[in-house]
Amino acid sequence: MKHIPHDYYLKFMSSMVHEEVLDFHSKGNYTIHDAFKHVSRLHNINDKSLSILTGNELRLYPDLDLTFPIRSTFDSNSDIARSESCDTFSSRSLSFSLLESLVAPVLTNRVDSFKRGYPSGGALYPVEVFICSLVDNEESWPCPEKVLHLLPNSRAFEVMQGTENVQYIKEAILSFSGQVGQPPVAIIYAVYIPKTLFKYKYRGYRLALMEVGSIYMLIELQAKKLGLGCRLWSAYTDTMLCKAIGLNPALFFPVCVHFVGECHDSL
Ligand SMILES: Cc1cc2nc3c(=O)[nH]c(=O)nc-3n(C[C@H](O)[C@H](O)[C@H](O)COP(=O)(O)O)c2cc1C
Repeated sequence: MKHIPHDYYLKFMSSMVHEEVLDFHSKGNYTIHDAFKHVSRLHNINDKSLSILTGNELRLYPDLDLTFPIRSTFDSNSDIARSESCDTFSSRSLSFSLLESLVAPVLTNRVDSFKRGYPSGGALYPVEVFICSLVDNEESWPCPEKVLHLLPNSRAFEVMQGTENVQYIKEAILSFSGQVGQPPVAIIYAVYIPKTLFKYKYRGYRLALMEVGSIYMLIELQAKKLGLGCRLWSAYTDTMLCKAIGLNPALFFPVCVHFVGECHDSL
């Protein structure tokens, strides 16, 4: 079989491992919905305490003078220097060719290899990448559906069926929008959990999360090269997001969203 059906992995996966990982993972889900707005909060920590606790480095011996300086310098224009996260996106849409360039670093580059632009434990590649258009009027977007699934080896996109309604997708991704403005594109990084648990069991969960980090860093660097802003985003409800793009939330864990667009901060 050249292209196995995605549920073929279930045949090799322990259902007990799956159930326990799913139970643990579900504890990290948020329910962001108007109905819960007045009865739930993330934490009870006041602003003063929060500012003391945020942005820190961890000193293992804070009371001892055991430090010495690093003498190297780093050019912030370097190819490996990312931009800061964009605070507010303009609503201007992005051309589809720009999005094709954006995902180029994560694709397979050699015809004789399955390897991609990022490493993967055991070459399992359990992270699936979905590109969502959050605007209705971008002429260069290639189809009525608003969500495309990246096929890194084929260097192609697969059209996600039933994703024509941009409003529906926006509600799932931007239920809580805060100050972020109107990002025109969202990338969803979802772990297809059977693809990592079948071999590595509980440790596969860890490997998959790290893989998401290495993919989003490549996207950040490429976005900077293309003059675009980015912001990673975790303020959404996993199950709502899965439903909006037609994925089974027991098998696909949408662990992070990445907004991409023109940044107001730099205008
Ligand atoms: C996994 C992940 C999830 C994040 N989720 C959010 C989010 O939900 N909302 C938000 O405003 N920023 C989010 N951020 C962005 C961080 O707030 C930001 O990276 C941090 O403040 C450091 O700022 P910098 O990215 O400009 O260096 C997230 C970052 C990461 C790595």
